[in-house]
Amino acid sequence: MAWLLPLHVTLVVVSLLLFVWRGARMWRGRPACGRLLHRILPDSVDTLLLGSGVLLAYALHVAPWQDAWLAAKLIAIVLYILLGFIAFRHRGSVWINRTSFIIALMTVVYIVAVAHTMQPWPWA
Ligand code: HEM
Repeated sequence: MAWLLPLHVTLVVVSLLLFVWRGARMWRGRPACGRLLHRILPDSVDTLLLGSGVLLAYALHVAPWQDAWLAAKLIAIVLYILLGFIAFRHRGSVWINRTSFIIALMTVVYIVAVAHTMQPWPWA
């Protein structure tokens, strides 16, 4: 399963690039249009990313009920998904969209730091 970690990290990079691109368009008031770029591509990449993460955890024998860093990472991922949902799909205040996007970016920095250090408090 030596290919799994590089695949997971590649999917992280593609997912983040799509997230930042969608965020930049939302910021300028021109949200990504078309089902393929707006929904199908990001949702497919994110599904593969989560799937590769689950496989990786299985292959490396780590589990959220044993490894605090993985539990922290999963909680942060749920937060990241919710914030992304508000940033891109909530129709109402631009301020709410932009704030959610910024907090989502901060959350993803935390997720990557937790994954890298395998510590729930990576900067402690
Ligand atoms: C937004 C989603 C995710 C992001 C941004 C992310 C990010 C990362 C990154 C950057 C690494 C490489 C760390 C390094 O070696 O420097 C990694 C590794 C890993 N991720 Fe994820 N991941 C995500 C989802 C998941 C999920 C859903 C799971 C499990 C259910 C998971 C489990 C793992 C495991 C087990 C490793 C290997 C740690 C190691 O032993 O090196 N990831 N992740």
